Amino acid sequence: MSEGMARFSLDEKVVETLLDPQNKVIMVIGGPDTGKTTLVEELASLFSAQFRVGVVDADIGQSHIGPPTTIAWAPVRGKFSGWEKIKCEDMYFVGTTSPSGNLLPVVTGTKIICDIARQKVDKVIIDTTGMIRGGAGKILKICKIEVVKPQVVLALEREDELSSILRAFKGMRTPLILRISISSKVSQKPYLHRVSYRRRKFREYFKDAQRIVLLRNKLGMRDIRPGVSLYNRLISLKSEEGRDLALGIIDKEEEGGQLSIYTPLDASRKIAAIVLGRVRVDLEGRELP
Ligand SMILES: Nc1ncnc2c1ncn2[C@@H]1O[C@H](COP(=O)(O)OP(=O)(O)OP(=O)(O)O)[C@@H](O)[C@H]1O
Ligand SMILES: [Mg+2]
Repeated sequence: MSEGMARFSLDEKVVETLLDPQNKVIMVIGGPDTGKTTLVEELASLFSAQFRVGVVDADIGQSHIGPPTTIAWAPVRGKFSGWEKIKCEDMYFVGTTSPSGNLLPVVTGTKIICDIARQKVDKVIIDTTGMIRGGAGKILKICKIEVVKPQVVLALEREDELSSILRAFKGMRTPLILRISISSKVSQKPYLHRVSYRRRKFREYFKDAQRIVLLRNKLGMRDIRPGVSLYNRLISLKSEEGRDLALGIIDKEEEGGQLSIYTPLDASRKIAAIVLGRVRVDLEGRELP
């Protein structure tokens, strides 16, 4: 077992490749419950001894850095010692908890957040969703790899479920594709565990939320699910530069187009636009139909 990789036995050559400073961006892919996030944790520990490390969390469902529905990154300062110790620096709001029906924002957000991270650190590790199956999963992962251009793709494969994704890059100089075997200790997360995990993340995110009021006709607006009630819609609050500053939950729309919103964002921040997500949640983090 390689030093610094307690839960994966990677051979020395793989570790050497990963530690090569030229291999700056490393993307981890695999189906659900294959150990992707655990591998990202191990890599963050391994790298943080000698590099400035950033983790990009492109898993919009089981998110570890930003709230669910976002792609976010965090720098690892000092030795990586758990997700709760690292702080989200930038995020991109996708607006759904699964890439299905919303592939372009996932690819766009991963690219935007990776570009920010790679300017600030020496090693970027990207965690991804487990959506790899079917035409949508395949095109999602292929396009993500094509646009983000990681130097290395770490593929956690049970049988050959990633082969149609990886075949797209056969014969190419980059990315270098390294297949990693899945640990026998991996455990499956039941669907309800995933829902309650998201609920906890949303609840924590909104625990100190305050009510702010925005004038609807003064704002830029994008709605990814037009026609659905505004009430309890999860939204993103965007700066003039187009950055997603924070999420909010619409409380109500009052007369005169005043939108009342719960958000942890400092009320003094200027909000230029909002993005209305597909998800509806309450302040307890419950996802509503
Ligand atoms: N190498 C390992 N050794 C011991 N336990 C592991 C290992 N890899 C994963 N696990 C355990 O298996 C479970 C699933 O792992 P993990 O969350 O990393 O998978 P994932 O692919 O990121 O899942 P998801 O599809 O939810 O993103 C976790 O409880 C984790 O602690
Ligand atoms: Mg994961």
